[in-house]
Amino acid sequence: MLTKIAVLVSGNGTNLQALIDAEKNGKLENCQLALVIANNPNAYALKRAAEHNIMHFVISRKAYKTSLKYEEAMQNLLLEYKIDLIVLAGFMSILSPQFIQMFPNRIINIHPSLIPSFCGNGYYGIKVHQAVLKYGVQITGATVHYVNEIIDGGKIILQKSVMVQPLDTPESLQKRVLEEAEWVILPKAVTLVAQELKKEKQDD
Ligand code: GRF
Repeated sequence: MLTKIAVLVSGNGTNLQALIDAEKNGKLENCQLALVIANNPNAYALKRAAEHNIMHFVISRKAYKTSLKYEEAMQNLLLEYKIDLIVLAGFMSILSPQFIQMFPNRIINIHPSLIPSFCGNGYYGIKVHQAVLKYGVQITGATVHYVNEIIDGGKIILQKSVMVQPLDTPESLQKRVLEEAEWVILPKAVTLVAQELKKEKQDD
């Protein structure tokens, strides 16, 4: 039984690429990247999905009158494609508690810091790395966690640390956190969660 995965994206999609590469190399055991949803029509991640023949759609908040309708459109696609696991990989949109409760323990997110540091409201993208440098911590990293109603507050699945270098800029740090941590732990976390889901199904 394959775990069908949807990846939700907004931008470049290098984490999506890490998942695509892992699938190609047989490292996403019993998983299938079945669907990519972007909330931004210009997301480069859509090109990555197209190149690898993964079904992809744009669902933009602007196209819907309410957040409820926007989320309903996403829900419908996820149900239509019989998605087991939703991966937020650079998805710059906050999902409502109602949406999250529809998929309990089936949504995971990658965050570019060691949670509980530098996370929560306002900590996204380059801002995380700016805050890390401003504070002066010497170790940062990335975290994959389950998504619950608290921003970056769900159970931690995997973390990996990255050393801050004396000459780091937010951009150089962002790049190293992606390369050394995010692209490494995301495919591993997806495999781990897929194994859990498989066990749950077998126990049913
Ligand atoms: C990553 O740093 C991710 O942790 C954050 O947004 C960035 C997205 O990068 N949430 P990419 O689109 O996967 O290249």
